[in-house]
Amino acid sequence: MKKVLVTGGTGYIGSHTVVELLNSGKEVVIVDNLANSKPDVVDRIKKITGKDVKFYNIDYLDREKLEKVFEENEIESVINFAGFKAVGESVKEPLKYYHNNVSGAIVLLETMQKYNVKKFIFSSSATVYGAQGNGKCIETMKRGETTNPYGTTKSIIEKILEDLYFADNEWDIALLRYFNPVGAHESGLIGEDPKGIPNNLMPFIMKVANKEIDHLNIFGNDYKETKDGTCARDFIHVVDLAIGHIKVLDKLDKEKSGIFVYNLGTGNPYTVQEMVDTFIRVNNVDVPYVYAARREGDLPVLYSDASKAKEEIGWVAKKTLEDMCRDAWNFVLKNN
Ligand code: NAD
Ligand code: UFG
Repeated sequence: MKKVLVTGGTGYIGSHTVVELLNSGKEVVIVDNLANSKPDVVDRIKKITGKDVKFYNIDYLDREKLEKVFEENEIESVINFAGFKAVGESVKEPLKYYHNNVSGAIVLLETMQKYNVKKFIFSSSATVYGAQGNGKCIETMKRGETTNPYGTTKSIIEKILEDLYFADNEWDIALLRYFNPVGAHESGLIGEDPKGIPNNLMPFIMKVANKEIDHLNIFGNDYKETKDGTCARDFIHVVDLAIGHIKVLDKLDKEKSGIFVYNLGTGNPYTVQEMVDTFIRVNNVDVPYVYAARREGDLPVLYSDASKAKEEIGWVAKKTLEDMCRDAWNFVLKNN
């Protein structure tokens, strides 16, 4: 049977997507060098699905080893989650980000080309929109100015993929712009488990609720653009996001070729304050917080117009903010 290769498949979004791929009957091969994930994720995926998955602990920049994966498996399509994603670190170590994200994608695409595999899904980000309008992002907008090297890697790879499709329109490519993925699989077996002190809101809330960090800083409560003065984001449950990939893969399977761009978000902005309040309420835990200065580079509001994915691939995010908070905390409780 033909297989889906998932790079970064033991990571946060990758592992949830592998579960949904296996549940939908696909055979999956994972490539991950465990730079930001743990090997036991593979067993946990098997436990959740009752299915087998092949795992290669390799760096996707290692061309020889990557070629071996294509030699040993009949790969039909590739979903590329591998990459680094910490915005702050990317400012301090830009070359590390350009190398791993951009050079890695190029090695992967060249390898695909060599083995005549031309179906590719790329994990892009809402960050490619930059600051435009009132913060509502629609796929017809041009890419905006990115504000950090991480975001720039996403913009560059999108452009590389457009150029690749222009040069060879046998490619079948999807650029998926994720908004703010949070939550975890309801089993509590897989979830977001960042190494060190987290940068993102939900992992930070989880560490505070778990008493590993004494309080949360809410960065800014004086934004005029939002109802309570804190920033607003389009938080999306990671399982909804994962299911979006299955729908996109179905679309690519139906299309002979093309390059498609989709926002994967709920279409609803919630504020940081709403997220914190909901987490405290549904989990009945304490999350001490203080209002701190605005964080440099933050946009007041960023959310998706989610209508294109609904119309073209029949995908809508179904899970609520309550689900996101409950499942995120369940993952902590099950892994303490
Ligand atoms: P993650 O760090 O949990 O997963 C990425 C995985 O890639 C990790 O398991 C890591 O070990 C692996 N990896 C990194 N470099 C590698 C290499 N050279 N070779 C092989 N494996 C490598 O991150 P995530 O949150 O699951 O994000 C997945 C993708 O989605 C990333 O490309 C990220 O930029 C993108 N994205 C994430 C978010 C978010 O908020 N989580 C938002 C938008 C886009
Ligand atoms: N926030 C806090 N305190 C914290 C952490 C975050 O108040 O300790 C606030 C931020 O100021 C922001 C909101 O929570 O207003 C969300 O911040 P995150 O860091 O969780 O997420 P971002 O929206 O900044 O960034 C995310 C991803 C990026 C991606 C971007 C796309 O982390 O990878 O969305 O818009 F590029």
